[in-house]
Amino acid sequence: MALPDDFLYELKTRNPIDETVSRYISLKKRGKNLIGLCPFHGEKTPSFTLYPENGSFYCFGCGKGGDVISFTMAIENLDYMESVKLLADRAGIRLPEQGYDDSAHRLRKTIYEINREAARFFNSYLNSPEGKIGYEYIKGRRITDATIKRFGLGYAPAEWDKLTKRLRSLGFNYEDMVTAGVTLKTKSGSFVDRFRNRMVFPLVDLRGNVLAFSCRKIDPEDYGGKYVNTNDTPVYKKSHNVFALNLAKNSGEDYFILCEGSMDVVMLQQAGFKNAVAAWGTAFTPEQAHLLKKYTDKIVLTLDADEAGQKATDRAISILNAEGMDVKVIRIPNGKDPDEFIKHYGKDGYDRFKALIEGAGNDVEYRLFKAMQNKDLTTAEGKAEFLSKAAEVLAQLSSPIERDIYASKLSEMYEVSKDAIMREINRGVRSASKERNQKQVRKLTEMPTVDRINPERTKNTRAANAEEGLLAVLIKNPDLIPFANQHLSTDSFITSFNRRVYEVISELHADNRPIDLVLLGTVFNSEELGRIVSVTVREDARANSKEECLTCINVIKEENSKSSLNGEETDDGDLAEYFKKLAEQKK
Ligand code: UTP
Ligand code: MN
Repeated sequence: MALPDDFLYELKTRNPIDETVSRYISLKKRGKNLIGLCPFHGEKTPSFTLYPENGSFYCFGCGKGGDVISFTMAIENLDYMESVKLLADRAGIRLPEQGYDDSAHRLRKTIYEINREAARFFNSYLNSPEGKIGYEYIKGRRITDATIKRFGLGYAPAEWDKLTKRLRSLGFNYEDMVTAGVTLKTKSGSFVDRFRNRMVFPLVDLRGNVLAFSCRKIDPEDYGGKYVNTNDTPVYKKSHNVFALNLAKNSGEDYFILCEGSMDVVMLQQAGFKNAVAAWGTAFTPEQAHLLKKYTDKIVLTLDADEAGQKATDRAISILNAEGMDVKVIRIPNGKDPDEFIKHYGKDGYDRFKALIEGAGNDVEYRLFKAMQNKDLTTAEGKAEFLSKAAEVLAQLSSPIERDIYASKLSEMYEVSKDAIMREINRGVRSASKERNQKQVRKLTEMPTVDRINPERTKNTRAANAEEGLLAVLIKNPDLIPFANQHLSTDSFITSFNRRVYEVISELHADNRPIDLVLLGTVFNSEELGRIVSVTVREDARANSKEECLTCINVIKEENSKSSLNGEETDDGDLAEYFKKLAEQKK
């Protein structure tokens, strides 16, 4: 909590939560509050709620919540200080001269520098006489010098520590190199390069920073998997980034071609498809979809034809659909990937691939195609099976007109009455919407079964409810905190997250500081803040009196004595302590 309270207050007042959030999403009024579609997870009905009264937000769908600073951190992907700076800039207020910790910011800067030097090193090594093997491999894959330059491709030497030594000579320390993910510490305590004897694809972000590397094996006998990639670091989250977006965003096309591998992207771009990007592997995420959506809402998917690729395609389709994006799917003949396809056709590659894009079915056609696979449509059973699968697919479409069009098509193609198909679809639609409703209700009424924020909650619901009831009252009426402190010690809390909240608000109050999300936001992360907000807005936590406090306190005490008797783990799980307590109680 190094920034002065006054400053944080001014920052918050000058950046009202509703104004800030409406820069990113559109909001509708609902009573005193505002609602909108959550920018942090895909959804079609709004569960993202703003509470202008106390400057907070909470998403009932994904659990994120907090204040204007944590919102900015999440949506701009910045750290705490960076968000504060951005908001201060926007409001035209100056940061206090000193008294804040910018070590996280400095570390990120160092990692960017290390990555940049590493990328330079790999690239110049590729072009040096010693890097000949790497250069030959890349040439063997029909990549031109111009493409090498455009992507900043490189070659990581086969020796143990050439890069690490080079970085050391530039003055970087080992710890930062390890944090950046380019160096490994061995068991014997020495430091070696993470990527060796591999072709290197650097991932560059939209500001030109090198975030990560994906490195392909050149010698099949070598160590590790075919590709070795940078793991998550303070500047890189695999699930939040897309390879070659820095280039593809300037392609002038109104869609992206989304592939699995870097090699596919490089070859497609070399062939003329400057809008090709890759998600590096099969696990496409909502965050990646969200990132792409900033530039276009049209995607042509071309994932591999193998089983893993098919699964990945299904997953990507539903994620992209949830973002409201328009998806087409390319099926490359003979199970080739885009790289192999382009290479196969040589100088006709561009036209051939273009034809595939133009002939690509939309996601519905792709799903219908899949429903048809492995079914013998010449038999009555095969046809019936296909149609019922097809109806399932169409039932998921939200537009009745679309459903109707496809039903007509199917009816013509397979000579089945359209009514029969529509009946089947409507049955699917009804059960799907019922399921959706049930899910929604469950989501709103229950805490998740695995509670990451407060893991003890599920086993101690009565205690946790009382704790939260108490916290809600105290956060709204800090004057009651001393009263609560008199009657309830911190140790009596059963769940550790709630205990932490109690400790923090008690300390703040003891320091004569207000209980406010701005201050809590310096201690808790966005998910934790989300929980705190959700607790304070719960309907059953509206009573604001001493009596309410006492009721909760009594329940907590009751549960506490129960839990230390009936064999529940003690708070810190220390069994020796528990047996001691038990023995004392038996005396
Ligand atoms: P593929 O095995 O399809 O490789 O993996 P590829 O892209 O066709 O590469 P080449 O043509 O054989 O050189 C697809 C993607 O999955 C990720 C990589 O991002 C790769 O581009 N992957 C694959 C890994 O991260 N690790 C691996 O060991 C393999
Ligand atoms: Mn390939």
